[in-house]
Parts: sequence; C-alpha cells; structure tokens
Amino acid sequence: MENLKFNEPILVTRPLLPPIEEYEEKLNEIWENRWITNNGPIEREFQEKLKEFLSVDNIELFVNGHSSLEVAIKALNLTGEVITTPFTFASTIQAIVNNGLTPVFADVDKEYYNLNPDNIEELITDKTSAIMPVHVFGNPCDVDKIEKIAKKHDLKVIYDAAHAFGVKINDNPIASYGDISMFSFHATKVFNTIEGGALIYDDPELEYKFKSIKNFGITPDKEEIQFLGINAKMNEFEAAMGLINLNHIEEAIAKRKIIYEKYLECLSGLENEGVIKVLRPMKNVDYNYSYFTVKLNTFEEKNHLFEKLPEYNVYAKRYFYPPCNEFPAYDFDKNTPIAKNISDTILSLPLYLDLTVEDIEKICKIIEYELK
Ligand SMILES: Cc1ncc(COP(=O)(O)O)c(C=O)c1O
Repeated sequence: MENLKFNEPILVTRPLLPPIEEYEEKLNEIWENRWITNNGPIEREFQEKLKEFLSVDNIELFVNGHSSLEVAIKALNLTGEVITTPFTFASTIQAIVNNGLTPVFADVDKEYYNLNPDNIEELITDKTSAIMPVHVFGNPCDVDKIEKIAKKHDLKVIYDAAHAFGVKINDNPIASYGDISMFSFHATKVFNTIEGGALIYDDPELEYKFKSIKNFGITPDKEEIQFLGINAKMNEFEAAMGLINLNHIEEAIAKRKIIYEKYLECLSGLENEGVIKVLRPMKNVDYNYSYFTVKLNTFEEKNHLFEKLPEYNVYAKRYFYPPCNEFPAYDFDKNTPIAKNISDTILSLPLYLDLTVEDIEKICKIIEYELK
C-alpha cells in the first residue's frame, strides 16, 4: 500500500491570516494613533464595515465571543432558567451558569444537530426567562418555530451564532433573528480577529448597556457605574485583523466550499455504503463551510478513526464531546439521548484554506482504509 503518512501535521484548522504587509500597514496606524484599546478608531471603523458586510443595523464588538455572551445575558437581565442545547461548546453553558442562571437542556434534531424546537415548550416553567439556541456548525436553527414559542411565552432569545458568520437564511442575515445573536471571531473560526466577538441586536437601547457592561459597568456618558460589568472590550490589534480579514473573507468562504465539495466527492463511496454520514448545508441557506463533520455509526468506530488518524499525522476533533450536560464539573440532567448519540459518533475533519486537493484525497484514502 502507498505511504499515506503526511510529513507535516494536518491539523483540524488553521487561521485565516492576511498578507503580513496589510497587517503591518494597520499596525503603523496604531503606532501613529497611540490608541490601543477602549473604543479606538480602528474598532469604530471595523464596526461600521462589519455592519455593512453583514447588512445589519446594530453591532457591538468584544474581546472574545464568550464574554459577549455573558454581556448579552446581563444586558437582558435574565433570571432563573434558560432553555438551551447540550450539543454546544462549553462557552454557551458557562455563560449561563456564570450569570447565576440554570441551563435547562432540550434535546437536538437528528439531521442538523440544532436544538429541536419541538422539545422546548415542555421545559418552560414560570422561572424560564430565555431560550439560548446554537446554530451548530453554521446551519441555522429553526428560527421561525423558536421565535413563535418565545413570543407565546414572553421569552428572550439569544442565538449563539459562534459558527455562523456570514450565513443567510433565504437571503436574510442569520443575525437578524432573535433579540441578540453572538458571533465568535476566534482564530479557529471562518472569520477571525485573533480573538474577538460581536453582538448583533435589534433594540437600539441595548447599545448603552453593552458599552457600559463591557467596560466594568462604567456608562459611556456620565462615567458612572450603573451596571455590574466585566472587562470585555475589543482592542485595536484585534479590530485591525478584523478589518483586513474582511477584505478576504468572501474568497476564503469560496475556497472552503471547494474543499468541502472535494471531501464530499472523495467520501461518497463510504457514505453510499452507510459507513459515514456527512453534515450537509441546509437548503435555502447561504452557508459558510465552517466545518466538515462526519457521523460514524458507533462510538467505537468514531474512536477508532480518531485514534488512528494521528498515526498518519492527521488530526480530527471530537467537537462537541461530551455533550455539555455530561461535564464532570456540573451535575446536570442528562436526559438528551439524541445529543448523546451525536456527540459520541461525530468527528470534525481538517478544513482550512491551505489544504490542497491532493491532501484531501489522501485524507479520504486514509479514512477509507481505516473504516473498511
Ligand atoms: C458554539 C460556541 N459558542 C461560544 C464560543 C466562544 O467563543 P470565543 O472562543 O470567541 O470566546 C465558541 C467558540 O470558541 C463556540 O464554538
């Protein structure tokens, strides 16, 4: 058999980095301005460009996605219980718990792994104040059904859209749904600002709260502490990276689509035989090709592949594993069998811009060899 081992490690992701000269130009600006954080000029420029790019009216920028989620919860004065999904990154749940609230877990849907709206209503109590769904791997939740339930029970909706930058549903920006949506601009995401995050929202009154809470609760006009806050401000180095990466993001998503489709082609044999199932973009959605995830049939098959790939210098990620209601750090209700099954059997394969067609063919040959 041919040698399928890669000389250099193929990691699950690598960050989108612009040509260094473009970043240097912006660094020069920072040095001239002598303004490196606290609502700097580059942050404001980035904010305006981002509004335009995403076709939304209101955006607040943050040092990372997680702290923006925490600020969102504080700004909406949520109390009691928040209905959410166990199939997410630790951040979603920790944002709820760190605010003194209780996450209540609804099971997910089998096909797209998002919170299943049909499981929400039975969990609503007089303590429920919000629903916090996640657009898992960039595929949108059933926003219409969720909105209907929220309206009926007078609940707030915060979407964790960490994976969904640039996604549209029937041409509508994904962040236009719910009271607030959060994007993560972490290095591993489709679009990065090194670390970073944003809240997109409808109610313009939230701006004052966001600006205060992300700066220790200090109000931007009176400089009084009217809110309990944290330090979650985006800095100028992050904003500069964002501003430049914005010029490259459309090309990056187009390349990711090519990589995604090459994987699909190379893995079609295994898929037709029922050995794996690839997560597809939803219909009527402009997708961002943020992840390439495959679902195996059993926990053992998933583990076999996960453990064998590094022998070829290829690294997949068990994302998300385990489901958040099984974290040893907490004692949560674990009654979400679909999320458990997905978490036990899913792997994210390497997907980043420098991957070549030959790399993907080789990765798929390895997978085929190991699963047959
Ligand atoms: C679903 C989800 N929520 C929240 C976060 C937190 O974002 P950040 O890393 O920017 O703090 C991440 C990613 O890291 C994520 O994947």
